[in-house]
Amino acid sequence: TQAYAGIDLGGTKILAVIVDEEGKVLASEERATEASRGPEAIIATMADMVTALAQGNYSLLGAGVATAGTLDPDTGMVEYASNLGWTNVPLGGELERLLGVKVTVDNDANAAAVGEWKAGAGIGSRNCVFITVSTGIGSGVICDGKLMRGRNASAAELGHITIDWQGPKCLCGNAGCLELYASGTAIGREASKAAAADPARGKKLIELAGGDAARINSRHVGDAAKQGDELAQEVLRSAGRALGAGIVSAIHIANPEVVILGGGASHIGEPLLGPMHEYLEAHAIEPMRRGVKFVSPKLGAQAGAIGAALMLRSY
Ligand code: BGC
Ligand code: NA
Ligand code: ZN
Repeated sequence: TQAYAGIDLGGTKILAVIVDEEGKVLASEERATEASRGPEAIIATMADMVTALAQGNYSLLGAGVATAGTLDPDTGMVEYASNLGWTNVPLGGELERLLGVKVTVDNDANAAAVGEWKAGAGIGSRNCVFITVSTGIGSGVICDGKLMRGRNASAAELGHITIDWQGPKCLCGNAGCLELYASGTAIGREASKAAAADPARGKKLIELAGGDAARINSRHVGDAAKQGDELAQEVLRSAGRALGAGIVSAIHIANPEVVILGGGASHIGEPLLGPMHEYLEAHAIEPMRRGVKFVSPKLGAQAGAIGAALMLRSY
């Protein structure tokens, strides 16, 4: 059977899938990203996973890779990936050599947007914004029935739009980026700071983190907020507003009919999304906001890998 391979190269894990023309998953495997072993070993692992999945069952028409950061889409060069600390890694070329099939490399969130649009929560839409809130914040925009890809395959870097131009400096070089305020990382960091500064108010959070304020993460914050913890709710209110401000810009730029909101931190639900929607209602251009349907992703953690595979069909 002819099929496509898709690989999501994340900071902590690598997910490989084999999919059919429609993006239906036929086989999949996950392994840890051993970041310390360096690019060469990681690329070899990726090739190994795909070969093992395909062997004897599928003849591959190509492989797509989804990864965070900035790329050269023509050569498959990863110019900069902050989650792996990579600069100028010839990912596409190396993988092509190892697998002997065409390889394309794309931004993780753009790939996930294509996955959800073609095979998940965005099926049938023509204008669709996918947003993932996790370690960082990423997005992908489908505009007029086409992925907005950009020169570096990096269009729609929503995590690095400016929320506060006088804000703190981001690793990307900009200041006051959205992901400094509303990512899972930011939620954990702000809660840690607040709990350490006022341990009485931070009691619940510190307890959930095993007694150490420095270990508080976004999952602890979400759990504490649901149990009525005030400090956690305050942190999420502020992150939710920042997320709302980012999504106002996404709506104003892309004019979508559907917004798909995913990523680990989106599971926090109401304590984060309530303030986000309030902000949107107060600040987005009303006729643009009114028509937008907010939906949850359908492909979960597989969206990026599935979308990367479907990219080979060129959307
Ligand atoms: C990166 C994006 C990526 C997003 C989600 C951001 O920090 O700059 O390229 O799409 O995180 O992984
Ligand atoms: Na993107
Ligand atoms: Zn930034």
